[in-house]
Amino acid sequence: MGVYDRPAKRRLKVAGGRRNMITLKDIQANPTFQILIRRTNEYLSQLGYTEHGLRHVTYVSTMTAYILETLGYDERTVELGSIAGYLHDIGNMHNRKYHGPTGANIVYVELRRLGMPLEEICEITTSIANHEEEIGVPVNPICAALVIADKSDAHRTRVGRKTCRDIHDRVNHAITDSSLVVNSDNSTITLKLAFDTTECQIMDYFAIYLTRMEMCQQAATLLGCTFRLVINGLELIGESSTVTTLRPAAGEGLAGQ
Ligand SMILES: [Fe+2]
Ligand SMILES: [Fe+2]
Repeated sequence: MGVYDRPAKRRLKVAGGRRNMITLKDIQANPTFQILIRRTNEYLSQLGYTEHGLRHVTYVSTMTAYILETLGYDERTVELGSIAGYLHDIGNMHNRKYHGPTGANIVYVELRRLGMPLEEICEITTSIANHEEEIGVPVNPICAALVIADKSDAHRTRVGRKTCRDIHDRVNHAITDSSLVVNSDNSTITLKLAFDTTECQIMDYFAIYLTRMEMCQQAATLLGCTFRLVINGLELIGESSTVTTLRPAAGEGLAGQ
């Protein structure tokens, strides 16, 4: 089956999944993960990044599960998606660069210690390792849902109380409302933004989000859907857009090599 093929039964064959059914609630109550998420947010706020704490990871967890559930994936896949979403940014605790693979390694160790079946861990860690456009490629449904959930979290509430704002802050601050809607009837995933153009231009949004939106297109395609981006009522990415083919990140060579 090609990576863009729609799964026949929308069920991931996760061997041994009944042995230790770790849930999102278990992960949220885990003191190690609590500390790592707090440290991640502290490190990134030191560097001036937008909010990456509990609010962000809870949003991504919820939206990853929402995408998978609405598209008909089974309950366990949805649960694993919610866990991947909750843990996806932990690698930032060490460094922003390559935080996907770094975080996947941290999560792998802790989930092994907790006794999660290896097949389930792999679904989660592959998704985490591939969630950033820098080196990531959406290669499975959980990863694809996670990518869209993560990239859809742009909003003025992420900026915090900083006064000296760079382009990321200005763009996030200009987004006064956002919503992500999955429509399983017409197989679309729509990100709607209300953008205050008195704060900055929509081109500024694309200056920093273009590659992320391309990754969302790839992710939606893997899920058998079309990704739509609607800003101030105008469809800027949609049915007629060209979807770039599945590719590794820039400079990483061709897929399969
Ligand atoms: Fe990230
Ligand atoms: Fe994130």
